[in-house]
Amino acid sequence: MSLKPQNVTDYPNINTIFQVWKFKENLEIQDSFQRLCALVLNLNNSVVNRFPDSRASCIIGIGFEAWKRLGLKEPLPKELENFTEIKGDKHTAISTFGDLHFHFRADDYSICFDMAIEISKILTPVAESIEEIRGFKYWDNRSVLGFVDGTENPHGKDRDVFAIIGDEDVGYSGGSYLFVQKYLHNMDAWRGLSTEDQEKIIGRSKENDIEMSDEVKPDNSHIALANIGDDLKIVRDNMPFGRPSSNEFGTYFISYASSFSTTRKMLENMFVGNPKGNYDRILDFSTAKTGSLFFVPSKDLLDEFSG
Ligand code: HEM
Repeated sequence: MSLKPQNVTDYPNINTIFQVWKFKENLEIQDSFQRLCALVLNLNNSVVNRFPDSRASCIIGIGFEAWKRLGLKEPLPKELENFTEIKGDKHTAISTFGDLHFHFRADDYSICFDMAIEISKILTPVAESIEEIRGFKYWDNRSVLGFVDGTENPHGKDRDVFAIIGDEDVGYSGGSYLFVQKYLHNMDAWRGLSTEDQEKIIGRSKENDIEMSDEVKPDNSHIALANIGDDLKIVRDNMPFGRPSSNEFGTYFISYASSFSTTRKMLENMFVGNPKGNYDRILDFSTAKTGSLFFVPSKDLLDEFSG
């Protein structure tokens, strides 16, 4: 059965807000959650109608603990669990808590802002905000490290294939596994490298975004380790963020995948290394400060959840 997915395969937009929420203890949350699901469906319909060219959307992801506490559908999505940390010799992909994740996208920041306000009105009485990041398109889709990000993402129909669950988990088709990590970059150290050395860390040229040949590309470059094969892809929508006056610069890594094990395999390659010890050099300049897994139900399932 093909169910209507949330907007997980949309292309990156110019403005984004990411929010992570934690439900307060000992409170009745069912009613708020039902209203939230209805609101998400409503907001998406409304922005498409009001601003058809804005490519605006709002996506809700639900964490493992929230799913259980809310007593949502059983059995659970096959790979929904609390993310368990991945520890390499030098770097760790830590696991942090999150009950709900929101991903707001639009060309005009005002649209993201207003959608976030409506969601927050429902959630503030019953949940604490544990993260709110404003991401933006930096030049031609560059991360703050100065390299174009997103080039080898799947395109066209491949986006559906790699981001959306099909028949492999009956009951959850149209859904997706959302994994997020907030990275902070050591920009002083990064800027201290020559462009040539930075290129060896990413595996692509900086100015024109050309991939290095296999003979030249170092085994510990980011793309050598993150590329785990043509059949194992995810849809990424990373966004830069930062506060220059506080010397805080980061990348909000966000991915949608039809199977979480694909994302996890990439993380293992990056953090543990392949072979073990040959870890991703990007991590010497980028620290994962969060790491959480969420399930993004289809719009049809959200409709069921809305009561
Ligand atoms: C590729 C940046 C974290 C998976 C890239 C590229 C850049 C980049 C600049 C090359 C252009 C492209 O194809 O998109 C970053 C930054 C990160 C980060 C700044 C955070 C510090 C991650 C993580 C994963 C990942 C955590 C997986 C869990 C990938 C994949 C590719 C890629 C699959 C494409 C590889 C290929 O097939 O060539 N990333 N990335 N990235 N990244 Fe990341």
